[in-house]
Amino acid sequence: KFDGLADTPAMGWNSWNTFDCDVDETMIREMADAMVETGMRDAGYTYINIDDCWHGERDAAGKIQVSKAHFPSGMKALADYVHSKGLKLGIYSDAGNTTCAGRPGSRGHEYQDAQTYAEWGIDYLKYDWCDTENINPIGAYTTMRDALYKAGRPILFSICEWGDNQPWAWAKDIGHSWRATGDIYPCWDCAYGWGSWQSLGVLKILDIRKDLRLRQYAGPGHWNDYDMMEVGNGMSEAEDRSHFSLWAMLNSPLIAGNDLRNMSETTRKILTNKDIIALNQDPAGVEAMRYIDAGDLNVFLKPLANGEWAFLFLNRGDEVLNYTHDWPFNLVKDDLTGRSIDFNREIFTWRDLWTGDKGDTKRNLKLAIPPHDVVVLRLTPVK
Ligand code: GLA
Repeated sequence: KFDGLADTPAMGWNSWNTFDCDVDETMIREMADAMVETGMRDAGYTYINIDDCWHGERDAAGKIQVSKAHFPSGMKALADYVHSKGLKLGIYSDAGNTTCAGRPGSRGHEYQDAQTYAEWGIDYLKYDWCDTENINPIGAYTTMRDALYKAGRPILFSICEWGDNQPWAWAKDIGHSWRATGDIYPCWDCAYGWGSWQSLGVLKILDIRKDLRLRQYAGPGHWNDYDMMEVGNGMSEAEDRSHFSLWAMLNSPLIAGNDLRNMSETTRKILTNKDIIALNQDPAGVEAMRYIDAGDLNVFLKPLANGEWAFLFLNRGDEVLNYTHDWPFNLVKDDLTGRSIDFNREIFTWRDLWTGDKGDTKRNLKLAIPPHDVVVLRLTPVK
């Protein structure tokens, strides 16, 4: 695969969560405009990704066509437009015969499709797993990886396999990220459907692979993908803030899934919080660990570069959570990185990345976390 395309998790926008199959070139252009006007681009969001349903049929030579009705100017013109805004264009296909919405898949056309995407100027490919019968996932994703590489244009390869075949165990050198779960749904703790077809709320995604310690598989160039974000898609402000903070801490790709053209200022502020984004884009590239798992209270820790740390205190419950964190009492040890903190010996200052409040680890931290909300602190060692 191409090196250097995802040294930190990808950031961008994708059409699926809001628009489903209802995609067209006018909307995509407007989304690129909005990415710039809202400050999202300046905050680090780069990719404009068209999900399922951009497709027409294959022509007589087998070459995939865009839907002429919805993309009359063609994909190359759209890529040129997106590039002129300083952004990149992503597209979607599937390892099977048809995509999840029944459009032509890439099975048997991998090299041809990769070549076509490269000609169009595509920068990102999300590659889904519907209608794959019993093909081998490692083989199928390797074939498309090799096809993209041969086509020669650097294209970020986003594996969308939902976790049934443990992509974390084999996809490190194949893709730049792999979906770890079924599809997200904009709710706090709901689940609909079953198996791979389950739609999962924020807490369900957080918990469904908890025992697998997926953080051990992620790192620069290869990330666990906890699915595209639902910020601005109907959850409460606290829930959106928690969702965004958690995805940042988990080093998930930060792919917005709301309509950027008419989002509220509250939503915009959440998506463009540079301090939270910096946790996701931290050069150490270490996914957060769940450090305290005690009923409604979850505490996540993330070792950052330069001896810094991020602490996320999550209130999963429906009541205000009063909690006092005694720093020295809670020694920190991260088995994955070997890093540890003994707060008896080391003092840190902290900054609350949502409120701007400041403090240090000499005093206990007294929190009253609203329902479904988070407190996220960045700790800096006092030298
Ligand atoms: C699957 C994927 C989704 C989306 C749809 C499109 O469900 O997991 O993210 O791409 O297909 O049909």
